[in-house]
Amino acid sequence: MLEQVESLKKEIQSFQPVTSIEVESFRLKYLSRKGIIPLLFDDLKTLSPEKKKETGKPLNELKQLAETRLKEWSSIGEKSEASQTDIDLTLPPVPNKIGSLHPLNLTRYHIIEIFERLGFNVADGPEIEDDWHNFSALNFPENHPAREMQDTFFISKNPDMLLRTHTSNVQIRLMEKQKPPIRAIMPGRVYRNEAISARAHCFFHQVEGLYVDKNVSFADLKQTLYHFAKEMFGKDTKIRLRPSFFPFTEPSAEIDISCFICHGAGCNICKHTGWVEIAGSGMVHPNVLRNSGVDPEEYTGFAFGMGIERVTMLRYGIDDLRLFSENDIRFLKQFKPVL
Ligand code: DAH
Repeated sequence: MLEQVESLKKEIQSFQPVTSIEVESFRLKYLSRKGIIPLLFDDLKTLSPEKKKETGKPLNELKQLAETRLKEWSSIGEKSEASQTDIDLTLPPVPNKIGSLHPLNLTRYHIIEIFERLGFNVADGPEIEDDWHNFSALNFPENHPAREMQDTFFISKNPDMLLRTHTSNVQIRLMEKQKPPIRAIMPGRVYRNEAISARAHCFFHQVEGLYVDKNVSFADLKQTLYHFAKEMFGKDTKIRLRPSFFPFTEPSAEIDISCFICHGAGCNICKHTGWVEIAGSGMVHPNVLRNSGVDPEEYTGFAFGMGIERVTMLRYGIDDLRLFSENDIRFLKQFKPVL
């Protein structure tokens, strides 16, 4: 035991703590109730009287040594406490920067919300698509100039594959796998081979809408889009339908809304016409229903397609399409939901 006391003495003398944590672990190791030194005192009680005499003194000295050293080091702990109080708690905090939703997402969520309340589901489809789902099934005849309405990015390894030019491909995919009634909106990214400018981009976003059931009529289309326009742009909004052409709808119509900026008085947004175009639409062509496995004798449907960028630009008064994809934080942080 004497030898043990001797070697502990050396150990304690050479111990050089740097942090208050090390000081505390020293205290725990040597001096706490279950520490080495108190345990040695317990052992001392079991020794013979002579041995007790012989060992008692050096053991007491060891204890004193440990306690003195511990006292010396008490300043180590104090030092770090002092540095803690150097922090000026009265300084104003640096606020955490929190992100915000991209304006296109704000618009997309709002569109989804409006249509979900009308019982529409949200559906999704591939951005890399085959010719059938992007064109042929949608009644674009082979080699027909209608295909050139949309400048397409083809995949060079496989000329049958392309980047979808619109979200109308999801109409086909949905009808292929689901029996009517179908009521769905399909938001997504689309691609066109266009030079990038303030008014055009090689990728942008659309929301497609499709309602197929027994006895769906043009009146349903009109009321649905009228309801949407009022929810999106304000309850005084009017809509106007202009005859148009799309291969996949018959009849087809372009949907305009009354200009919510000037209310018809004429401004730059509506190019002094009082109306702004927001969507293409129509009754789903019987060939499209047939191509997707839906019997046009039994079912009818309406469809529409709307540009998310366009709606967002109108809502927030943005005049350059490029801003949406440049990721400039000064632009992006400005947007709050418009209700
Ligand atoms: N796919 C058309 C486009 O990208 C938009 C569109 C028009 C979609 C009429 C429709 C529709 O579903 O009925 O220009």
